[in-house]
Amino acid sequence: MEQNFEDMSRKAQYKLLWDEYLGKREGAKKLMEWMEEAGFFESPASTKYHGSYPGGLCQHSLNVAFNALDLCSLPAFEGVSRNEAVTAALLHDLCKVGCYWLDDNRRYHYTEAWGLGHGTGSVTLAQRYMKLTDAEQVAIRWHMGMYGDADKAGELASAYKKCPLAMLLHHADMMATYYCDGKKGMGLV
Ligand SMILES: [Fe+2]
Ligand SMILES: [Fe+2]
Repeated sequence: MEQNFEDMSRKAQYKLLWDEYLGKREGAKKLMEWMEEAGFFESPASTKYHGSYPGGLCQHSLNVAFNALDLCSLPAFEGVSRNEAVTAALLHDLCKVGCYWLDDNRRYHYTEAWGLGHGTGSVTLAQRYMKLTDAEQVAIRWHMGMYGDADKAGELASAYKKCPLAMLLHHADMMATYYCDGKKGMGLV
């Protein structure tokens, strides 16, 4: 008997979305293998705010993907590819892998491990194994919106104009951060 999606582990849910929306792409298998080895599925998403528990990064990425699919139904995002929306959502915070560590009191800390920046780091790490589309690259790079590079408002505006997926992903991320974790969102990622 098939298991209900809601009853699956968060890792199984992530992999189901992965297989459905990007699993057939060249390099997707290698990227997934690297993510497993690097600890993506055990990583938190923040030190003390949303997803600040083992597996939190996977759960946050899933929440962003669900929000992204909802937003795809809005007229403003007519034409945005659902495959690209889910791919960008599942990979937008990939740069956090390997950046969290626990102290003796079991509290998480964050040390930037890659030296690649936030959104740019996720794009770079993913593309070591699998090509992202132009829209996915732009959306992941700018997913922090104005919280990322406040001095680059002009570049952000250009990204939003040419790439509706960038606007969609930013809002899906904000919704997940503030409304989907059972806690008041305070830590932006
Ligand atoms: Fe982020
Ligand atoms: Fe995020």
